[in-house]
Amino acid sequence: STVEWDAEDAGKSGYDHYMLKEIHEQPRALRKCLRERVDGIDGSVDLDLDRLDDADRIHLVACGTSYHAALYGAQVLRERGVPAQAFVASEYDRTTLAGETPLVIGVTQSGETADTLGALRTARAAGAETLAVTNTVGSTAARECDQALYVRAGPEIGVAATKTFASQQLALHAFALWHSADSIDPERIDALRSLPDQVQSVLDDADVESIAAEYADSSAFFFIGRGHNHPVALEGALKLKEITYEHAEGFPAGELKHGPLALMEDDAPVIALVTGDGERARKTLNNVKEVQSRGAPVIAVTDGRLDVEQYANHVLTVPETDPTLAPLLANVQLQLLAYWIAARLGRPIDKPRHLAKSVTVE
Ligand code: G6P
Repeated sequence: STVEWDAEDAGKSGYDHYMLKEIHEQPRALRKCLRERVDGIDGSVDLDLDRLDDADRIHLVACGTSYHAALYGAQVLRERGVPAQAFVASEYDRTTLAGETPLVIGVTQSGETADTLGALRTARAAGAETLAVTNTVGSTAARECDQALYVRAGPEIGVAATKTFASQQLALHAFALWHSADSIDPERIDALRSLPDQVQSVLDDADVESIAAEYADSSAFFFIGRGHNHPVALEGALKLKEITYEHAEGFPAGELKHGPLALMEDDAPVIALVTGDGERARKTLNNVKEVQSRGAPVIAVTDGRLDVEQYANHVLTVPETDPTLAPLLANVQLQLLAYWIAARLGRPIDKPRHLAKSVTVE
């Protein structure tokens, strides 16, 4: 596989920041990620990888935003019956392997993050097979791992990862289907193939600037999500803290009552991810009610299948999709929220203080 580059990838193309440009490039990035891999006609997934011998157990190792993609990927793998677990790369060592040799997947946009390379080297030294899920052809991770799966997001200039996160999630989702290929529900294939257009519709209809203006001076921001939306709650908080310098935290929605509820105040909004109408969404809706009754403002990201609106101060809408893909749509709203709050606060969005695009020290 190769990544295609073209003139449009260079420069900001009229956007004020690379980050906003890259947020808007997501439909195209996701289309590229799927091209010739997920076939709507015969409902197959072909990733051009050799079958993996040791892949009855999978560990995913990653840092930062890529770790959130790894958490998401692990969850999709587990749902496909594959025991999978995500680890922060800097916490991964021989004891984590506990004498086993799982397939170890390094999720790294740059392919150069020292902590992730270190975890992959630990895995290889213990005899594990390794796979790099990366955006960078020829990167150290791609070269050192047994195989590479390219996410094909195109170059990302903004320090805060946006389109590469979406592409990593989608690539890992496709990997989970490929790896457990026996029975892919044709509706899942359709949902994957509709995703780029749905992301486009979120971008076209998005209206977060006024909400960003209203909440830019808040004392803190809390993000809650359950199941597939949990990694995206973490990512929403990370994005916001990276580019606004404001305090933001993400929690599994169920953990609110085990501590964070003490932080609820009228100047600290809770951004709640409520998609679908399953048990997880219903429980999260109950958490939203708890938040609201403690006097904290609620910004709900929802597909409208449950009646969240009556418990929320604001609603950001996403289209309906398969529950496993809803977080990729919700995340677009969170990216835009972080972006517009940072813009409002006058932050240097593409180059936040103290942060680097690629961290090559441990
Ligand atoms: C840095 C970047 C993050 C990124 C992380 C992992 O901290 O600022 O945006 O998520 O590294 O990078 P990687 O290239 O391994 O995905």
